[in-house]
Amino acid sequence: MRAVRPDIALMEQNGITGVALPRLGDPSVIPLWFGEGDMVTPEFIRESAKQALDDGETFYVNTRGLIELRTAIRDYTKHLYGTSIDVERVSVPGSSMLGVTIAAQMALSKGDDALVVSPHWPNIETTYAVTGANVITVRQRETPNGWQLTADEIIAACTPKTRSIFVNSPCNPTGWVMPREDQEKLLAHCREHDILLIADEVYHRHYYEAEAAPSFVEISEEDDPVVIVNGFSKAWAMTGWRVGWVIAPKSHGTHWAIMSECFNTGSTVFAQHACITALEQGEDVVKSLKEQYRQGRELLISKLGNHPGIDLCAPEGAFYAFPRLRGIDSSRRFAEELLAEEDVGVAPGYTFGADNDEYIRVCFALGLDRLSEGLDRIVRFVERNHNWKSL
Ligand SMILES: Cc1ncc(COP(=O)(O)O)c(C=O)c1O
Repeated sequence: MRAVRPDIALMEQNGITGVALPRLGDPSVIPLWFGEGDMVTPEFIRESAKQALDDGETFYVNTRGLIELRTAIRDYTKHLYGTSIDVERVSVPGSSMLGVTIAAQMALSKGDDALVVSPHWPNIETTYAVTGANVITVRQRETPNGWQLTADEIIAACTPKTRSIFVNSPCNPTGWVMPREDQEKLLAHCREHDILLIADEVYHRHYYEAEAAPSFVEISEEDDPVVIVNGFSKAWAMTGWRVGWVIAPKSHGTHWAIMSECFNTGSTVFAQHACITALEQGEDVVKSLKEQYRQGRELLISKLGNHPGIDLCAPEGAFYAFPRLRGIDSSRRFAEELLAEEDVGVAPGYTFGADNDEYIRVCFALGLDRLSEGLDRIVRFVERNHNWKSL
C-alpha cells in the first residue's frame, strides 16, 4: 500500500465494527454490540447545546477545555469522591478515547513495552500499537467470584521496558472492578518505576455495589504518574457528543495543551457547554440509567447464567457480560450467524485479545424489553445450532 506506514497498513478494523458495519442502522437488528443504550441524551442537556449555539459559542476556545467545564469536573470529583484536585490537572479532550490516545503518545516511544489488562476493548491495543510500542497483555481469570486479577499479577507481567500500563475498571468487556488495595499497590509500583498508568474509568458510575467504583483519583498525589480518563458518553448517555476528560499530573498541563493542539484543538465548544449542564443538573439521569442497567444485568444473569452451554461470570460493573459459549470454534462466525438468523448483534470475543474466541460480549444497556427479546434469541440460537450438549 502506498504512502501508508507499513505497521498501520497491516492493522485491521476491530471485530465489533467488522460484524456490525453491514447492518449498521438496520431497525430490525437488536443491537447488543456497541457500548451504548437506546436512550437519546436528555432534553435539558440538548437544550443547553442549542442555547450555546444561539449564543454564538462557535469559536476556538482554550485547547484544554473551557475553564467553566474543567471547574465543573473538579467539583463533580469532589462531590462524588470527597477528593479535592487542582483544576490545573483537568483537561477536556474530544472524547475519552482521545484522552487515552494522547496519554499513550506522551508516554511511549517505539520499542517500549505497554501492558494492557485483558480482555480489553480493542481500540486500546490499537492506540498503544500506533505509538510503536510492543503491546503485552495480562489476562484476568474467571473464578467463582467473578473475573479477578491482582496487582501482583499485573506487576509480574511488567518488563524492564514497560513504560505504560492500561487498566480499565470497571472493565469493558468483563465487568471486573479493581479493588482499592490493588490500586494502591499498582500505583506504588508505577511511582517507583516511573511508568505512566492510564486508568480508564469511563464506567465509574456503573458499579453495582456502591455509588461509584474505587477511583485512582482518590489515592493519587498531584504529580503521580497516572492519567485518569473519563467522559460523558456512558454515564450521561452522550456517546455521540465526543467529549471526555482527564485528570493528569499537574506538571503535564502544558504537554496536554500542546498535544491537544495537534490532535483536534480541543473538543467542540457548544458540546462543552452541554457537558457543564450534564454535570451540574444530570445526577438524576446518571442514577436512573444505572438503575436500568442494574435491571438489565439481572435479566441477563437470569437468562444466560443457568444455561448449561454458557459459562457466565456475573459482571461487577460496566454494562457488559463476557460469557463463554462452550464448544464454539469461531466467535466471529457465531456473531455473524446469530445476526443473520436472529437479527441480534453481539461483539465477537476474539477482538478483545488472545484466548477469547469462545466468548462473546453482550451489552445490557438497551431498554429492558428489547434486551429481553435479544437475550431470548441468543439462547434460542445457542439451543438450535450449538454442540454444547455433546461436550
Ligand atoms: C473502556 C473504554 N474506554 C473508552 C471508551 C471511549 O469512550 P468515548 O466515547 O468517551 O470516547 C470506551 C467506549 O466504549 C470504552 O469502552
